[in-house]
Amino acid sequence: MDDKDVQIIRELLLAEDEYVSGSQLAELIGVSRVSIWSYMEKLKAQGFDFEAVRSKGYRMTGRPSILNQTLIQAQLTRKASAFTVFVHDEIDSTNSEAERLLAHGQEAPFVVIARKQTLGRGRLGRVWHSPSNGNVYSSFAFRPFVSPSHMSLFTLWMGLNLCECINSLYRIKCGVKWPNDIHIDGRKVAGILTEARMEADQVRDVILGIGLNANSDGSDWPEELKNVAISLSQATGETMDVNRLFAAITGRIAIAYQQFLDGAHKAIAKEKWPQFDTLRGKTISLMQGDNQISGVARGIDLTGSLIVERDDGSRFLARAGEVTLKKENEPSS
Ligand code: BTN
Repeated sequence: MDDKDVQIIRELLLAEDEYVSGSQLAELIGVSRVSIWSYMEKLKAQGFDFEAVRSKGYRMTGRPSILNQTLIQAQLTRKASAFTVFVHDEIDSTNSEAERLLAHGQEAPFVVIARKQTLGRGRLGRVWHSPSNGNVYSSFAFRPFVSPSHMSLFTLWMGLNLCECINSLYRIKCGVKWPNDIHIDGRKVAGILTEARMEADQVRDVILGIGLNANSDGSDWPEELKNVAISLSQATGETMDVNRLFAAITGRIAIAYQQFLDGAHKAIAKEKWPQFDTLRGKTISLMQGDNQISGVARGIDLTGSLIVERDDGSRFLARAGEVTLKKENEPSS
């Protein structure tokens, strides 16, 4: 990616409706004033548009509506600027691509984002339906070098932060359905797949894969998804600006990751979890392989295990499993 493109776009975004002179842009990126024109032409080919007025300079009048690497990178906050952004039209799986980049020595943190996946994968070996329908497939990669026990809250912590970021952007109410789903009104808007690689007794690589239903209108979802999934645009009635959304999510994840490394996340998660826990107080059925446990969800403990209270008052701590909600008058066991 050309860093100069990012610098130009950042400057024009900062100027909002004002003009920025060609010489100012030239000085900023360290090129001659005449060569600015060729940068602007290159940016136009990416979907940006500019008004150029003699004696005033350039003003941005249009920007790409589909995922664009330059636009995301230019909107990153200072805290998130360490992230390199890779955007693909089509990829097998962003988690697989992140894995390949890590294996080839790409410096972390970085994020791989795609408009379409041909081999998108979900939890428990499931397929993640990933057509090019305005939804976003992303993988954030880190090299944490922490002990495996430090990772226990990672997915839930990131899920909580993802919800808080989306809720504050669009004034909606996303919550986390333990262990890795993001829900709005009982429908899944995103799924998280965390994959990690160990070295000696340390976690060397972590990939946080997020499949986010952003702009799908639901018409191309398979029948089994139609009643259980929702997109942000369906929930808000607005078209999502995916570039702004992903710059904001990357910013939030950068902060959340630092808190996770510092260990500050535990206290914050404990305080905020009840606000984001979509299962709290609900009668549920938990499947662990062929084993079924029924009871009432009573939050999580500090390791991220789900607390299930059975009818006899005893508590079961679940590290993993699939949860379904029981209907109002269905007995819990
Ligand atoms: C789940 O709910 O089962 C988790 C789904 C995670 C899907 C995302 S899409 C981006 C990343 N790449 C993948 O292949 N999977 C994750």
